[in-house]
Amino acid sequence: MKKPTFHILVCNSYRIAGGAQGACNRKNAPAMIQYFTEGAADRGLDVAVSSTACLNVCAQGPVVVVHPQNVWYGGIESEDQMDEILDALENDEIVEKYKISD
Ligand code: FES
Repeated sequence: MKKPTFHILVCNSYRIAGGAQGACNRKNAPAMIQYFTEGAADRGLDVAVSSTACLNVCAQGPVVVVHPQNVWYGGIESEDQMDEILDALENDEIVEKYKISD
């Protein structure tokens, strides 16, 4: 199989036992998956978008992880913020102001 160029992981707060019930899910994370998917397609980016279980940094949610850069972003709630992340992918850049990883 051909791997996608980028992989965007959106925390959706899933727990091992039971459904989504965490901070990211309550802050609109489900809608973020569709927005990232459509925004990547609009830009012609080869991106897979997936939802994840809780990434254990709930206080900084909603949390978004981008690979292959392995950049963790926090507090991503608005369409403008998601656009900034997608624009950065287009330019092979990182949005430093939302980064929560070292
Ligand atoms: S619910 Fe997203 S980091 Fe915990």
